[in-house]
Amino acid sequence: MFRRLPGDEARNLVTTTPDTAVVFRPAVVTTPAILTLIILAGRIVVGLVRATWRHPIAMLAAATPGVLTLLYGWRAALLLSTPTPVGLLAWALTNRDSFARLVGWRLLAWWRLIWVYRRHWQPVMIVSGLGRHIRGRDYLPRLGKITCTPWADLVSVRMLKGQAVKDWADRIDHLAQGFGATSCRVALSQAGRITLTFPRTDPLATPLPALPLLAEPSVGAVEVGKQEDGQPWRLKMHGTHVLVAGATGAGKGSIIWSVIRGLLPAARAGLVELWALDPKLMELSYGRALFGPRYAATPENCADLLDRAVKVMQERAARFAGLQRSHIPTLDNPFVLVVVDEVAFLTAYQSDRELRRRISAALATLTTQGRAVGVGVLAALQDPRKEVMNIRNLFPDKIALRLDESEQVDMVLGDGARDRGALADHISPVPELGAGVGYVRLETSPNPIRVRAAYVSDTDIRAMADAFAPSGDA
Ligand SMILES: Nc1ncnc2c1ncn2[C@@H]1O[C@H](COP(=O)(O)OP(=O)(O)OP(=O)(O)O)[C@@H](O)[C@H]1O
Ligand SMILES: [Mg+2]
Repeated sequence: MFRRLPGDEARNLVTTTPDTAVVFRPAVVTTPAILTLIILAGRIVVGLVRATWRHPIAMLAAATPGVLTLLYGWRAALLLSTPTPVGLLAWALTNRDSFARLVGWRLLAWWRLIWVYRRHWQPVMIVSGLGRHIRGRDYLPRLGKITCTPWADLVSVRMLKGQAVKDWADRIDHLAQGFGATSCRVALSQAGRITLTFPRTDPLATPLPALPLLAEPSVGAVEVGKQEDGQPWRLKMHGTHVLVAGATGAGKGSIIWSVIRGLLPAARAGLVELWALDPKLMELSYGRALFGPRYAATPENCADLLDRAVKVMQERAARFAGLQRSHIPTLDNPFVLVVVDEVAFLTAYQSDRELRRRISAALATLTTQGRAVGVGVLAALQDPRKEVMNIRNLFPDKIALRLDESEQVDMVLGDGARDRGALADHISPVPELGAGVGYVRLETSPNPIRVRAAYVSDTDIRAMADAFAPSGDA
C-alpha cells in the first residue's frame, strides 16, 4: 500500500503496532524524470494517432493552416486557407440540405462529441452509477460514434461487461440531465452495444393540420401524422387491430379521424366499409353521415351492430375456408373497419349484464378471428386497466397517448416500454403541446416510437361528410 503513495512523504511514513516491536518502513522507488517524460510523450503520440484515426477530416482541417504557416509563412497560409471556409459557407447558403447532410451534421456531431459527451462522460457515468471507480481506476462504458440528425443526437455506447440494457433504461433521467437533454431513450443496437437517443429539439411541438385526402383509394398503411424523426407516421389497419389509450383530452379523436380520413377514398371506391360505434355520442356522431346505416350509439344498437360484424366475419370465414388464408380487399369482400370510441362504456361501465356480455364476446370474437378475413377493430379508451379492458392483449398494435400514471404505460405498450423511453405520463396536458402526441410500439420492434397525429378539426369532418357521405345521407 505504501509503495503507491505519491511524493516524498511516503519515505517518512512508518507503521507501528503498539504491542509489537515490528516496524514497517515503506520502500520508495524514485522514478527518473526522463522515464516520466517518455511516458507522457508516448501518451501524447498515442492520443494524436487515435484522434487522427477517429476524426481525420477535423484533424486535417486543424493541421493544414499550421503546416502551411510553417512552410510558406502566415500570409500565404491565410491566403491559401480562406477559400475552404468561404466555399463551405457559400455551399451552406445555397444548398442547405446537401450541406447539412454531407458536412453540417457531421461537424455538429464532432462538436457535440468533444463539447458535451466526452467532456461530461466520466462524471455522468460515475455519478449515475453506470461506471465504477475501483481502487483508483475508472471502469467506464466506452463512448462510441455520435450521429446527429435534425432532431436528436444518437450516441453509440459499448456497455461494460456484465451490464444489462435495463441498467441503462433505469437511468434515463440521470443521462438526460447529465448531458443537458430533455429526455433520453435507450435501444439495444448489437450485442453489448446500445444507442442512446438525446433529442435536441421537439419536431412534434406544434399541432399538425389534417393531412390532404388521398387521390387514389388505398387500403394499405394510412398516413395519420408524423414520427419524431420527421418521417410520416403510417398506421396499418388492414390485417391488424389497434387499441388507442389516452386520458381525457389526450387526442384519441384525432387518431380515429385521421384513420377514417385516410380510408375515405377507399371507402368511396367500395374497398373499405367503416362501421362506427359511438357510445359517448361525442366523437363519431359528428361525421355520422359517413357511416350510413353502420352507426350505433345506444348500447343495444352497438351490441346489434357488433353482432352483425361478427356475422359478416363468420360468413366470410365459411366462404374462404380452404380457399384463401389472407384477405385481399375487393368490392365483394371489402375491408371492414369497426371503429369503437370509448370502448369501456360498452364493456366495463355497462350496467346491463346481458348486453355487456354480448358486446364483450363480440369484440373478443372480432379481435381473435377477424384479421385473416378482413375485419379490423380500432378501439379507443381512457383507462387501460385489465378490469376495464380485459381483452386489451388481443390488439396486436397499441398506441399510448397521454396517460395519468406511469404504470399505465406498460399496461398499454407492454412490459419495459416505459423503461425504453415511452414516457406517456410526461406528455403535456396542454392541447397545443401534447394532444395527439403518443408512443407506438409495433409488433415487430420493442422500441417505442414517439408520434403525433394530425388534428382533424370539426370543419374538416364536415367537409369530409359533405364530400364522401353515401348519397342520401349527407
Ligand atoms: N392531434 C392533435 N393536435 C392538436 N390538438 C389536438 C389534437 N387532437 C386533439 N386536439 C385538441 O385536444 C382536444 C381534445 O381532443 P379529443 O377530443 O380528441 O380527446 P379525447 O382523447 O377523445 O378525449 P375524451 O376521452 O375526453 O373524448 C381537442 O378539442 C383539440 O382541441
Ligand atoms: Mg374522445
